Amino acid sequence: MSSSAKVIAGLIIFLCLITFPVWYNVVGGKASYTPELKIISEEKSCVESKEFMRIEHMQLLDDWRNSVVRKNNRTYIAHNGKEHNMSLTDTCLKCHSNKTEFCDQCHNYLEVTPTCWNCHIVPEENKL
Ligand code: HEC
Ligand code: HEC
Ligand code: HEC
Repeated sequence: MSSSAKVIAGLIIFLCLITFPVWYNVVGGKASYTPELKIISEEKSCVESKEFMRIEHMQLLDDWRNSVVRKNNRTYIAHNGKEHNMSLTDTCLKCHSNKTEFCDQCHNYLEVTPTCWNCHIVPEENKL
């Protein structure tokens, strides 16, 4: 083998290895890659149940905004009776202070791009 052929062969092997997890899942027909969502909050639970949040958080945020902007009511009473300040930055991102690894991770995977951050502040991020 000429030396350039060796380099190319080496590159191909290298690429196969680093992309292994991706094509392994594709070839294996598994539900391929799912984003890993890191919860770094000390709290054990979200504003509402995980199942509810997963499906309804966009609607919940929309309701929060309407409540604050239109009715000047900033207190949300959750199903378990706990009170929360209706705020994207001060509530959601206080617990989920790893926006990039949490919100973005999931949105990127699903190709959703909320434009909220044009106006709303993202606090300095914490990482594990
Ligand atoms: C054009 C700028 C702008 C954009 C874009 C925007 N907002 Fe807001 N939002 C505001 C302003 C201004 C307020 C009023 C702030 C206040 O009274 O505390 C507000 C208030 C809110 C509130 C309640 C107060 C708070 O501290 O969070 C929520 C919740 C909210 N917006 C959610 C969203 C969500 C979710 C999106 C994206 C889908 C979004 N907003 C996009 C400007 C914006
Ligand atoms: C008190 C801390 C806290 C606050 C405030 C909070 N979360 Fe959560 N959130 C959590 C925890 C802890 C979990 C994981 C719950 C579990 O595993 O049962 C979670 C789970 C979630 C999930 C589901 C993730 C998955 O695995 O599917 C979403 C989506 C979410 N939160 C979005 C939000 C949004 C949007 C807000 C603001 C409206 C918010 N959270 C406010 C702590 C919080
Ligand atoms: C488990 C995956 C997942 C996580 C985690 C998640 N989201 Fe979402 N989010 C979605 C999906 C899916 C949609 C699109 C829903 C639709 O289009 O009906 C969405 C939509 C939204 C929207 C509405 C966007 C629009 O333009 O209408 C907002 C706002 C939003 N998410 C905020 C957040 C915030 C803030 C967090 C982190 C605290 C978060 N999301 C975490 C899956 C997730």
